[in-house]
Amino acid sequence: MVDQNSTLKGVVPTGPRFFGRRKGRPLKTSMKRLLDEGLPKIIFDPLQKIDHQFGRHADYYLEIGFGGGEFIAGLAAARPECNFIGAEPFINGVASLLRHVEEQQLGNIRIWPDDVRLILPALGGGSLAGAFIMFPDPWPKRRHAGRRILQPTLLDQLATMIRPGGNLTLASDDPAAKSWLLQAAMSHGDFVWTARHPDDWRKLPMGLSETRYMRKAERAGRRPSWFHFRRRDSVAP
Ligand SMILES: C[S@@+](CC[C@H](N)C(=O)[O-])C[C@H]1O[C@@H](n2cnc3c(N)ncnc32)[C@H](O)[C@@H]1O
Repeated sequence: MVDQNSTLKGVVPTGPRFFGRRKGRPLKTSMKRLLDEGLPKIIFDPLQKIDHQFGRHADYYLEIGFGGGEFIAGLAAARPECNFIGAEPFINGVASLLRHVEEQQLGNIRIWPDDVRLILPALGGGSLAGAFIMFPDPWPKRRHAGRRILQPTLLDQLATMIRPGGNLTLASDDPAAKSWLLQAAMSHGDFVWTARHPDDWRKLPMGLSETRYMRKAERAGRRPSWFHFRRRDSVAP
């Protein structure tokens, strides 16, 4: 029997505390094979230069918490000229993205199978054309506010890594999460919310794929919102 975490041994450093599931349902043999054979080929290596890992220079996008990976796989397929880095500590999700990569023969994705905060220092200033946080865990209770992904430190890091004019896209179906996502990004001087009309946040933006959590929310009658922020050209006065 293959250890479903064997691929990660020695790769994942210790770091900030992560709140969430690392494992879900037992992995099928095919998923274990993907983790053991596929992941080492496209694992993101924070110690190597990014261009070197992709074998080319291109626009880089980061997805934080890719879940089952359908969103980042959709983006990578639609924009073959760009490079994509996805971070997700949930090992079943990593296996699912590896399946999308294999089925769609995607050569422009690298996977970090752990907490995104561990690789942020490795991404240089202005290195990203954009970042996505789609349907993050909502942590609606005030006493769990410290577990919410979009903390001021992460926003500061994203503001440094996303180049001027680049994008930060946030989405949620949870009223509390919509409010803390918007509040956090709007109160950060380096990001501007680009919405002009309610449809700008009520409709799935052109060119973006659906996600598993988005579909789950819609089936349950909850309305997703998408918040698109632009990294300011220069720091606000
Ligand atoms: C509610 S799920 C949404 C998954 C996916 N984006 C979607 O829309 O279907 C949130 C995901 O974020 C991941 N996550 C939470 N904290 C994270 C972190 N610090 N770094 C990377 N991923 C994280 C979780 O493991 C979980 O899979």
